[in-house]
Amino acid sequence: MSLTIAIDGPAASGKGTIARALAERLGYRYLDTGLLYRAVGRRTLQGMDPLEAAEALTAAEVADADALRAPDVAQAASRVAAMPEVRAALVDFQRAFARRMGGAVLDGRDIGTVICPDADVKLFVTASDVVRAERRFRELSGKGHAVTLAAVAADLAERDRRDAARATAPLTAAPDAVRIDTSTMTIETAVETALAVVGDALRRTGQSAVS
Ligand code: CDP
Ligand code: CDP
Repeated sequence: MSLTIAIDGPAASGKGTIARALAERLGYRYLDTGLLYRAVGRRTLQGMDPLEAAEALTAAEVADADALRAPDVAQAASRVAAMPEVRAALVDFQRAFARRMGGAVLDGRDIGTVICPDADVKLFVTASDVVRAERRFRELSGKGHAVTLAAVAADLAERDRRDAARATAPLTAAPDAVRIDTSTMTIETAVETALAVVGDALRRTGQSAVS
């Protein structure tokens, strides 16, 4: 047996970094569910209907991670993510991914609450607004995007507000999620903190701890 790990949190909190590291250390598969919404959002920027885009989503579109990281795509993603029919069209794929043998890590906004309410481990990753804006600003400018810190901060604030306020699957911590505030943590410390929670779950389910 292996675990299903659900990681949620606001934009640029460090959830993807933790999710990727856990998947690597445990030998599990990883799904960044934000890329699904980003791929649909990108299609709508090209004029496609959001539901059609969600229903026709291909693996190649989702794999085009660099193009999907652009700030205008992030905004479009959060707009289509507020549409219940778009979310519904993406549920089966995410649940099937989580159920496949061998362990899975999924990160997003509603993994612990809606997609995998029975996940073995639920983490809710946060960081202060300022820290998150600085991290995303560094990341985007490092990749050659022409952004300002103020614009990045505004983008994150607007998406967080929209993500938390929507009626369907809003951004919120599951009651049984373990909260990790990464504001003052290095990536290493954040990953070790998450691994400790996973270690507890492995012992609870009679599996050996992470080496
Ligand atoms: O997935 P999410 O949007 O929550 O955030 P991320 O992509 O994991 O992290 C955003 C940026 O912050 C990345 O460039 C990470 O390397 C960086 N980061 C950091 O500096 N310190 C941490 N403890 C976690 C992430
Ligand atoms: O990396 P970052 O946290 O900035 O964004 P992301 O995880 O790639 O998600 C982009 C947008 O998709 C978010 O602002 C949400 O509106 C939406 N999303 C969602 O609604 N549910 C998910 N499970 C994942 C993403």
